[in-house]
Amino acid sequence: MAQTLIAPSVLAADFANLERDVTMINKSQADWFHIDIMDGVFVPNISFGMPVLKAIGSHAQKPLDVHLMIVDPDRYTKTFADLGAEILTVHYEACTHLHRSIQAIKQHGMKAGVALNPHTPVHLLKDILGDLDLVCLMSVNPGFGGQKFIERTYDKVRELAAMRAEQNAGFLIEIDGGVTSENAMALKNAGADVLVAGSFVFNADDPVATVADLKNLTQ
Ligand code: DX5
Ligand code: ZN
Repeated sequence: MAQTLIAPSVLAADFANLERDVTMINKSQADWFHIDIMDGVFVPNISFGMPVLKAIGSHAQKPLDVHLMIVDPDRYTKTFADLGAEILTVHYEACTHLHRSIQAIKQHGMKAGVALNPHTPVHLLKDILGDLDLVCLMSVNPGFGGQKFIERTYDKVRELAAMRAEQNAGFLIEIDGGVTSENAMALKNAGADVLVAGSFVFNADDPVATVADLKNLTQ
């Protein structure tokens, strides 16, 4: 089985010491930087925008996994490509013409992901799964770090993994929200490929060791 990827969420970094924290993740065993973009409309919070992403990108030495929690994300597909996003994930709930949004992301040279809110069933993705590089299952309600993991997520991961096998599709399954060393192994066993972890990594006494723990636990 392929190794599980660990994607620390920069949302939980110290924004007054962003270069330090980005460098720390560069040196860790983390695989990606997870970047949460919130617009205050799709979710009840505003995180950061393009200038901050540009600053992160200028120091990051690992792929930028950009998670858009914004309405009408098509407006910014090119902008995020220019900012160096390797994976661009839009929300199912924010896209009226999801197929078109996904094609645009790919045409701009990025990998395309779709995120599902906790209440959105995975079967709604049936007709688009073959076009996707990643499905992000939200295991908290998007908008904030540090929330409690929603247990129902395990069933969604298993269901999605079964759909993937049935369709012989190749997308990665990413879990976002409330990931810790307590649930990492069970998520991997359910079929997850990428674990996003924000507060668990950045609030730890030793974030580099915490990433290493998550990595070792899931291999
Ligand atoms: C939530 C974000 C998550 C968040 C995860 O809206 O999409 O990526 O940063 O943070 P933790 O790991 O603290 O739940
Ligand atoms: Zn996220």
